[in-house]
Amino acid sequence: MPVNDKAEALTHNSLLVENSRFLRACRRQAIDCTPVWLMRQAGRYMKEYRQLRECYTILEIIKTPELASEVTMQPINAFDLDAAIIFADILPPLEGMGLELDFVKGEGPAIHNPVRSAADIERLHETSPEESLWFTLEAIKLARAELDTRGLPLIGFSGAPFTLAAYAVEGGGSRNHAVVKSLMMTDPAAWHRLMEKLSNLVGQYLLAQAKAGAHALQIFDSWVGQLSPDDYRQFVMPYTRHAIDIARGAGVPIIHFGTDTNGMLELLREAGGDVIGVDWRIDLREAWTRLGDGVAIQGNLDPVALFAPWDGLRTRAQYVLDQADGRVGHIFNLGHGILPETPVENVKRLVEFVHEYTAV
Ligand code: CP3
Repeated sequence: MPVNDKAEALTHNSLLVENSRFLRACRRQAIDCTPVWLMRQAGRYMKEYRQLRECYTILEIIKTPELASEVTMQPINAFDLDAAIIFADILPPLEGMGLELDFVKGEGPAIHNPVRSAADIERLHETSPEESLWFTLEAIKLARAELDTRGLPLIGFSGAPFTLAAYAVEGGGSRNHAVVKSLMMTDPAAWHRLMEKLSNLVGQYLLAQAKAGAHALQIFDSWVGQLSPDDYRQFVMPYTRHAIDIARGAGVPIIHFGTDTNGMLELLREAGGDVIGVDWRIDLREAWTRLGDGVAIQGNLDPVALFAPWDGLRTRAQYVLDQADGRVGHIFNLGHGILPETPVENVKRLVEFVHEYTAV
């Protein structure tokens, strides 16, 4: 392509992306129909992903930009989604801090040297994302090149400081998060030091992803609902806010997501974000009333609804959309990540249905 044509095509594509349904919804601008993407949309429910996983571990995929970019595109090629999310995980940033991360088959993530004391926290490295997470930044550049030609936006993401602390301290998943909460309650000084280190990393990592080309950023506070509102306000909110404030320097929309957040929705909003992500434990209308007009909202279909026969799935998706009632600034999503056993056919029909049902 001659240089001029190439430059023109580039401008054209970036205009397409800037005017995409997803980015317009993030900015609460009018659109032709409700945008939809699904948390964890690349993953084991897709045969293309399972095939690749026969040859590579999840960490190998994440750390090989070509593979991460390929997996990012798998759901985009299969469904009419309105945004891609870079294939990565919330846990690799902990590796850069000196924690030994492993994904154990059937058991989920494990940290072999969890953080348990003030001395452990002092030892955590403060590295730059360019140094310790270069592979995701490279993957973003590669995925962008593919997505630009289709006018589709790319979402970058990070775990929120509390959810990262939960893995760093517990050493893996947890039912009641007693170990991490005990640290917070028994040694506040150590806790604040840990959260300071994590929030700087999260903020810098998000900022670096936007600079690498991500059009929007999502912060996952998946386990924040384990906290009382007052503990959230005191021990977590300032750090989430700090991370979001750093990331805001990039000037791209920020989605702030948590689960089980009914006791603290207003606080989540106060911590920041242009879009608040909610799970299915609250009606979307009620969540939006509580959050007010100044934010967009993302959610909130129960991921298990995708196991229902089409009629049951459609009814539940329609309920979510009726709750949003065509208000500008709704991004349809699940209330949490898609489950590995999800039937692919239902994903396809769901995405089509959201577009058809909301078309103006
Ligand atoms: O959305 C996407 O398509 C991007 C991919 C993505 C992954 N993890 C890939 C992944 C995203 C956005 C995440 C975020 C993530 N990781 C969160 C926040 C979102 C949430 O669901 O709350 C959390 C808590 C994690 C930590 C994590 N990673 C767990 C608990 C597990 C194991 C759970 C399981 O389903 O086995 C992972 C592994 C993981 N991350 C998988 C994928 C596709 C499955 C692992 C595999 O391929 O074997």
